[in-house]
Amino acid sequence: MLISPSILASDFSRLAEEVKSIENAGADLVHIDVMDGMFVPNITLGAPVVSCLKGKTSLPFDVHLMIEEPVRYIDDFAKAGADIITFHIEAAKDVKATIEKIKEAGCKPAISIKPDTPADVVFPYIDELYMVLVMTVEPGFGGQSFMRETMPKVRAIRDEATKRGLDLRIQVDGGIDDKTVTEATSNGADVLVAGSYVFKAADRKAAIEKLRNS
Ligand code: DX5
Ligand code: ZN
Repeated sequence: MLISPSILASDFSRLAEEVKSIENAGADLVHIDVMDGMFVPNITLGAPVVSCLKGKTSLPFDVHLMIEEPVRYIDDFAKAGADIITFHIEAAKDVKATIEKIKEAGCKPAISIKPDTPADVVFPYIDELYMVLVMTVEPGFGGQSFMRETMPKVRAIRDEATKRGLDLRIQVDGGIDDKTVTEATSNGADVLVAGSYVFKAADRKAAIEKLRNS
């Protein structure tokens, strides 16, 4: 189980300290939400901010691109220090080329699907992927409620990966907390993104441990 707190719920004016805080609290990855105001109705941050953070933590960077035509910015995020690059299949014209570009840039490729996107659209690519991200809210904002109707997709992707003998990570993102986490893990998710639940917790270490042990 990997825990990837989303900095979207952190205090952006103290980003370096916030990232250090989750590292000290036992996080495995830092989840960085990149939004362009086109693919989703919100704007967050870009590669220059990721680059500034790189020396501030030893945690790997799990970059979630919610941007149109992500292939255009792969090199920038790779240079900025991304380790995993996740892009939305709905936003990419050439999915295969985007995966290739991520690999060429030295990063681990992952595809994300929105709640209304069926699971089987990722099947043609899963042999090439490090991870699939099944969104458990509509992308764009933190603090939304977990959509349990997305769980059959996590199950379907886990079953397909098992059938093919793949060591595929499945990430869930949105509304993950101590009450919803078990539903996700019992369906085969093994990378948990949590923004509000971790960053708003009085004790971030306890919150991360609770997710990990669920
Ligand atoms: C939403 C983002 C999420 C978000 C999760 O588009 O992809 O990573 O930060 O926030 P919580 O955990 O608060 O639902
Ligand atoms: Zn995210």
